[in-house]
Amino acid sequence: MIGRLDHVAIVAPDLDAAISLYRDGLGAEVGPVLDLPAFGVSTVFIRLPNTHLELLHPLGEASPLVGFLARQPGGGLHHLCFEVADVAAAVTTLQARGMRLLDPEPRPGAHGKPVLFLHPKDTGGVLIELVQA
Ligand code: CO
Repeated sequence: MIGRLDHVAIVAPDLDAAISLYRDGLGAEVGPVLDLPAFGVSTVFIRLPNTHLELLHPLGEASPLVGFLARQPGGGLHHLCFEVADVAAAVTTLQARGMRLLDPEPRPGAHGKPVLFLHPKDTGGVLIELVQA
């Protein structure tokens, strides 16, 4: 079911420092900061030849990343995102396999395509996002 690795997401406690690291230090193509209030995050996508990185930073005090940074103040790996051909079909398939989703319905993600997150207790402790290809 899963296809290409769409992105690897990293929580950055200092977004400007992380942008500088990847743009100026590592010479990557860093996109603009996108605020996603529905997810409580600011994101920055970094284009690599074979995938993307997504830098994540809390947006608002109710951000799910506040708890992440309380546990890991230095930031770090947050989730992997894989493409699927049909997110709605993936929901049906995953639920039939007894896998839990963090949201019952796919939501538009950073690029307007529907995304969903699997429960990390069902995925070996790694948060996995699926995005419509
Ligand atoms: Co993501």
